[in-house]
Parts: sequence; C-alpha cells; structure tokens
Amino acid sequence: MGEEKALPTHIGIIMDGNGRWAKKRGLPRNFGHRAGANTFRTIARYANQIGLSYLTFYVFSTENWKRSQEEVSGIMTLLRNYLDEMDAYAGENIKVKFWGNLQALPEDIQQKMKRAEKETENATGVQLNLAINYGGRADIVQAAKQLMTLAKEGKMDPNEVTEDVFRRFLYSEEVPDVDLIIRPSGEYRLSNFLIWQSAYAEYVFMDILWPDFKPASLDAAISEYQHRSRRFGGV
Ligand code: IPE
Ligand code: IPE
Ligand code: MG
Repeated sequence: MGEEKALPTHIGIIMDGNGRWAKKRGLPRNFGHRAGANTFRTIARYANQIGLSYLTFYVFSTENWKRSQEEVSGIMTLLRNYLDEMDAYAGENIKVKFWGNLQALPEDIQQKMKRAEKETENATGVQLNLAINYGGRADIVQAAKQLMTLAKEGKMDPNEVTEDVFRRFLYSEEVPDVDLIIRPSGEYRLSNFLIWQSAYAEYVFMDILWPDFKPASLDAAISEYQHRSRRFGGV
C-alpha cells in the first residue's frame, strides 16, 4: 500500500472540447454539449464519492455569447434540464452554487438556480460551483463595484481593504482558492476562468476531449497534482 496523499481541497475544471468531439463524429456541435453534460453528471457524483470538498466547473463564459444563437440556446436548454435533475442532489448530500452574472440569464433559469441553491444549502458532501456567464475579470470588477458602493455609503473604509476582505466579495466568497485546475481538450490557457483564485493553482492540461473524460482521468490529474511541490513563494 502506497502512502496516502491528501486530495486537493478545491479543483476547477474547464470543460472544453465538446465541439471537436461532435465534429470528429460528423455531428452538430450541440451533440457534443449533450455528451459533455453526461460527463459532467458522472464527474460531479464521482467527486462526491471520493470525498472532494469543492469542485468548480466552467460551464459558460462571458465570451461564449459570441457563439451562434443556435448553439447558445442549445446550451441553455441543456442547463434547464440539468437544473431539474438537481432535485436529487439534496438527497445525495451534494451542494450547488452558481457563480457568474446570473441576472443576464433567462428568468426561468435564474429561478431554478435559486431553488437548487436553497434546496442543497445544508448538504455537507461535495460543493459544486457552476461558473455560468462567468468571467474572471468580470468577477473582480463586480467585487470592486460592491466595495466602492459600500465606501460611498460610508460603510467601508478604503484603508481596510486587504486581500482577505476583497476575496469575500468575489463569487467564490468563503471557498478556498483553487488548488488544481484541469483543462482537457489540448488547449493550454485559462480563458478567463478563476483569475484571482488561481494565483497559486497547479495546472494539469490533458489531451482528451471533455465528453471522453472519465473518473479515471480525474484520478490521473489528482495523482499528477500529488507529485507537485507547492512552495507559495517560500522554500
Ligand atoms: C466547451 O466546449 C463548452 C463550452 C465552452 C460551452 P467547446 O464548445 O468550447 O468545444 P470546442 O473547444 O469547440 O471543441
Ligand atoms: C472556455 O472554453 C469556456 C468554457 C469551457 C465554459 P472556450 O472554448 O470558450 O475557450 P477558448 O475560446 O478556447 O479560449
Ligand atoms: Mg472550446
């Protein structure tokens, strides 16, 4: 038996490669998103099984609105269906949170999100954070706006704004910084995901398309993470 290494506390996953997965099969892009949603279901439950504390999925970026109306509405339909399935999460002890500019999403989706957050708020298993209409820069800007409003109202002294104060205004609130960011699809970039929260993250880039990602792929990424030496600027 090998030495038991600690799991990362917080993993972020950039779910990329759905379009290419569909293209390889001669299918429309939205078939790739449907397959990607299935992978998401599997990985979310697996993370709960292995006892992970926080898992943040990049579902839809502030830049993804550039895609065709057909593709965007296909993604919103998948999201709606998935939100309905979340009724089962409270019973499975899975907690969900949504990070992003949610007000720009269709009203019914916002209602479903509120319901899912409320229903699962007391769960103590994995916390799934779904980054939807999320951008790392937008996250920082909305936090700055909240602080400036408080300052204007005389409720916050600018001299008291430390990194620790600032971080509580981010969508991630009390969730600890991300330890490991996994990006499948063969791209080597962050694409505006968790910019603040990833300052000292480890990155694992994988040459696999998201719909093909398996629990074993997550195990492999975690195992690579466990072999890294994190120094946080120390020695
Ligand atoms: C990720 O897959 C899903 C979203 C960004 C919504 P892509 O749709 O970006 O897949 P590729 O990169 O085109 O293969
Ligand atoms: C990042 O993937 C966004 C999500 C996975 C939601 P993209 O496919 O949008 O990123 P780029 O365009 O390749 O950088
Ligand atoms: Mg992509």
